Parts: sequence; structure tokens; C-alpha cells
Amino acid sequence: MTGWEPEEEELTIEIIDRPAKIIQLTDPHIFKEEKGCLLGLQTRLSLTAVIEDIKSRHIDADLILATGDISQDQSTESYEYFAQAMQQLETPVCWIPGNHDDVHKMAECFDVEHFSSAKKINLADWQIVLLDSALTGQVYGRLGREQREFLKKALASHQAEYLLTVLHHHPVDIQCQWLDPLGLEDADELFELLDASSAVRGLLWGHIHQVFDQYRGKIRMLATPSSSVQFKPLSKEFAADTESPGYRILELGSDGKIETEVRRIEHIEFTVDYSVKGY
Ligand SMILES: [Fe+2]
Repeated sequence: MTGWEPEEEELTIEIIDRPAKIIQLTDPHIFKEEKGCLLGLQTRLSLTAVIEDIKSRHIDADLILATGDISQDQSTESYEYFAQAMQQLETPVCWIPGNHDDVHKMAECFDVEHFSSAKKINLADWQIVLLDSALTGQVYGRLGREQREFLKKALASHQAEYLLTVLHHHPVDIQCQWLDPLGLEDADELFELLDASSAVRGLLWGHIHQVFDQYRGKIRMLATPSSSVQFKPLSKEFAADTESPGYRILELGSDGKIETEVRRIEHIEFTVDYSVKGY
């Protein structure tokens, strides 16, 4: 763990007679420098394009989940930029750290209007539980005992009928040989908890910069394109993909179903350097 302690704070968003609408925005990799680039792509520009798209299509969203790798360089400036940019949406933002993040700086910089540090969010029949899988100085992730205990307690409380669990790292292999060892180390322990609960309907993550959508029993497992550069699916070695930046829209129904789609920002010219062989 990165030293972040699960807080008792809960966020409750009132939803009446309709599905809860959630936006997942992940892996923006913002730099301290205004024109900072990841593999040749200016990440502040692509985040702006994503935010503009959300603003024009989903201003009615109930919640935004920012699922880690907010910063590329852990700079205060990168977090402040992200907070300011997201505040335009005037929608509650909850967040978790990724492997590139400094959780303490995030907590400081995200102590602003519309941002919440709550890791349990209640929306009508649903509860969303946010988990910290980041390990200081490591690209791979681990929840560790404390985070798993946090989840266990949330599951045991039976506060909501359905549960969506959110983390940064992938808990299953995605058939990307270079990326699979960089997933969640204690995935077996996580699934032991999730499989024992009949309430869990969704497991959502970032980190892999590509789409993933598979079921494990009743649990829909989902990952989402980055709001910056994409990684090539099924690739043996590190490779950037030609796909556009994107985000995910989720609707959590009162029947426990998750309706979801990925939206790509196609109309912007991006200049990703596909020749780069490392991340
Ligand atoms: Fe990332």
C-alpha cells in the first residue's frame, strides 16, 4: 500500500427512479509542464478533449470516477491542473491512485469543490467501493490486508443490494504478455471475497489503457481506454495503439444490471509516437 488509509467517510448521491449514471475517466498521465507528452501525445490536450466531450454529452452524470495515473510525474502542478479541469463539469469526482501517483499529494490537491475523498459511495440500490492497489515504487499492484479488510467490511455490512468494486490494476490476465505481470498481485484473495458475495455485480479498473469487458459469474469485469495514449491489445511487447483517447459511461440499474459503453474522441488529431518501446 502507498500509506493511504481507507476512510470512514461515505458519499451518498440521491437517485430516484432511474439508473445511476457514472463516468469513468482513467490514466490521464498529466505532467507538470503544460506541453508534457506521453509517447508524443500532449496529455493535457487529450484530457481537455475528453472533458469537453463529457460536458457536451453527459452533463447529467451523477458521479465521475478517476481511476488512477492522474499524474505522470507526481507533481503538485499536475494534480492542481487535473482538479481545475475537472471542476468545470460540476459533478462529484471520487478518485483512487495508480502506480504513477502520489496518494498524499492527491489528497491535498483534491481537497477542492466537487472532489470527494470518500471511498464508499451510495447511489440508491448500489454501493461503489474504491480500493487502493498502488504500491510505492512499483508498477504492479497489490491491495494488501488493510484494503481487503475494508472491502470485506463493506461486503458484510449489506448496506446496498448491489456492489461495484473499483481499483487501478487489472486482477485478471488480459493476454498482453508485457502487461500481465504488472497487474494485481493478490487477485486470488480479492476474488475469494468477491465470489463469496452475491451482491457484487461489477469490477472496474484502469491501468491497461484498453477496453476489457468479460463476465466472471455475475460480476461484469470492465476496463477502459486511457484519456491519453492507448496500449495495443494482445501485444507481446510494449506497443502504443492507434485508437483514440476515451472514457466509459456506466448506468447502474435497480435490477443489478450494468449498462455500459466506451466513448472515443475521434475528431481530434493526435500525434502519438508509435516507435517508442517503453512506458
Ligand atoms: Fe496508466
